Amino acid sequence: MAAQDTKNLFLSALLLLSIAVFSCQAALDTHYYDQTCPQAEYIVAQTVRNASIYDSKSPARLLRMFFHDCFIRGCDASILLDSTPGNKAEKDGPPNISVRSFYVIDDAKTKLEKACPHTVSCADVIAMAARDVVTMTGGPYWSVLKGRKDGRVSKASDTTNLPPPFLNANQLIQTFAKRGLGIKDLVALSGAHTLGFSH
Ligand code: HEM
Repeated sequence: MAAQDTKNLFLSALLLLSIAVFSCQAALDTHYYDQTCPQAEYIVAQTVRNASIYDSKSPARLLRMFFHDCFIRGCDASILLDSTPGNKAEKDGPPNISVRSFYVIDDAKTKLEKACPHTVSCADVIAMAARDVVTMTGGPYWSVLKGRKDGRVSKASDTTNLPPPFLNANQLIQTFAKRGLGIKDLVALSGAHTLGFSH
């Protein structure tokens, strides 16, 4: 397959991952913040870029964070919520222990709150950051659809729904199919492992 085709496949799969099936919500729009926070894209991109200069592991971690967020309860930033005395959150579920660099999203959100308070959702910040790291590391650019709402529910027990590393191909296909993703999406999204580490 030509390099451009591979890039396009990854792009469309990541778009699907972010919008298709994971949650019920109003239509997303690439221009969602055009009037209310036109600097949103710039602020996120700058924050992600600066972080990668000092923390070379952050691009891979942010991309994986997006996947782990979207696969559980949709792309609703529930992966960012901290555990409380009565609730162990997704962040502390076993597959997410090695997901780090949450500080990059926190940093972008802090800057966004100064520029346009109570406007940009954390879920959209993760989606933009994931796009930015793909583009920054030589992958394609795409216009991120925005307008996601942040979730308030986050349970570590849900993270058992993330695909563990020992699944065979059929099991992986089934896991993705439950979220409306096909075999091409599975293969293209697995290309994310071009970045980062694995034990
Ligand atoms: C197809 C099912 C998948 C499985 C079974 C899987 C499994 C894994 C495992 C076992 C690791 C290494 C974690 C560790 O050693 O602690 C890893 C890393 C990673 N995964 Fe996946 N993954 C899958 C899909 C995805 C998808 C769809 C994406 C993003 C679109 C993704 C992005 C990443 C990235 C970027 C890393 C490197 C993280 C880092 O360096 O910090 N993975 N994955």
